[in-house]
Amino acid sequence: MKPIEHASFASLNLAASAIVLLDHAGNVVFMNLAAEQLFECTSRSLQGQAFWRSFVDGAPIEHLFWDGKRLMYGAKRFELSLTRPGREPLYCACTAVVPEGADLGLVLEFQALEQRRRVDRENRIYDSAKANHELLRNLAHEVKNPLGGIRGAAQLLEIDLPSAHFREYTQVIISEADRLQKLVDRLLAPQKHLPKIELFNIHQVCDRVGSLITVEYPKGINLCRDYDASLPEVEGDLEQIIQAVLNLARNAAQAMLGQGTITFKTRIARQVTIGRVRHRLALDLHVIDNGPGVPLDLRESIFYPLVTGRAGGSGLGLSMAQSLVQQHGGIIEFDSKPGETDFKVRLPLIGGKKR
Ligand SMILES: Nc1ncnc2c1ncn2[C@@H]1O[C@H](COP(=O)(O)OP(=O)(O)OP(=O)(O)O)[C@@H](O)[C@H]1O
Ligand SMILES: [Mg+2]
Repeated sequence: MKPIEHASFASLNLAASAIVLLDHAGNVVFMNLAAEQLFECTSRSLQGQAFWRSFVDGAPIEHLFWDGKRLMYGAKRFELSLTRPGREPLYCACTAVVPEGADLGLVLEFQALEQRRRVDRENRIYDSAKANHELLRNLAHEVKNPLGGIRGAAQLLEIDLPSAHFREYTQVIISEADRLQKLVDRLLAPQKHLPKIELFNIHQVCDRVGSLITVEYPKGINLCRDYDASLPEVEGDLEQIIQAVLNLARNAAQAMLGQGTITFKTRIARQVTIGRVRHRLALDLHVIDNGPGVPLDLRESIFYPLVTGRAGGSGLGLSMAQSLVQQHGGIIEFDSKPGETDFKVRLPLIGGKKR
């Protein structure tokens, strides 16, 4: 059999999923870059070895290989766990294809399930936040127009009331109209002014939000800073990003009932996809608290407007923060368990977008 040309597989390095090619003995012929990243090893280090031997629990791959030789199935899809010695198990979706008349014995394609679930969730958040925001802004516009009329009519009515006793009713109309006006103004707020484009350091944002929180909670909130000082500057509207991060930090302080620690942690992220756009570089700002965690029943809907788990909350803080960050091409995501809630603001960095 003629030797297999490795150069001919180079284009597989452009694929997003992990691809491993095995020869007719089950030995690794080639792994693309995504596979090297997923399994944390180099193609060269595994070349010529039976692929399944690199895993403590590789037996399903071995069966798949020999089944392929016997049955010549077209393709098989399944989920499995693969563990490299001394590493955490990896849960993957695997597709195995037996290529007809090729020099190869088996083509394996892997996708890390955790990663896929995360990407699906991020895309869902991204799409639904945009749609909801649009819907609410339209609704807010419709509510805003008649509100002024209702309030004005109640004021006029109050002047001609035959008895002061009825003023109680007109006052209810006026104060409820005012409350609604405030709500509507908050819904319409983020796009009230055009965003300013400036260069700023993300740590400026953390420091400003930190001092505002300290003013609001002078005693119980302890601030912790875990900064990556080498982070490049972000391009965007500084005030808007401060507003978004302040909403997160305020939620954290409120969830901890004013007693606990808020950590601002910044890190660089490489090769990330946000709302289906791939960026070479992004920065992650984590706002972490040690409060009780996001209530389970709110987790799926937390970024929707008007969803609140707090008495007196209006449920606008997170949807507003999400839409401000999305206007910057970024996304807010969270992980939460009792004792540790981590809201992550991911913002793309200039020059980091792949064309
Ligand atoms: N760090 C957190 N820990 C626990 N729960 C949280 C946290 N952040 C948000 N939540 C939950 O998510 C809900 C929605 O938050 P959001 O900021 O959108 O609205 P709100 O805080 O209730 O009201 P508003 O921000 O408009 O005053 C909160 O009511 C709270 O139940
Ligand atoms: Mg809030």
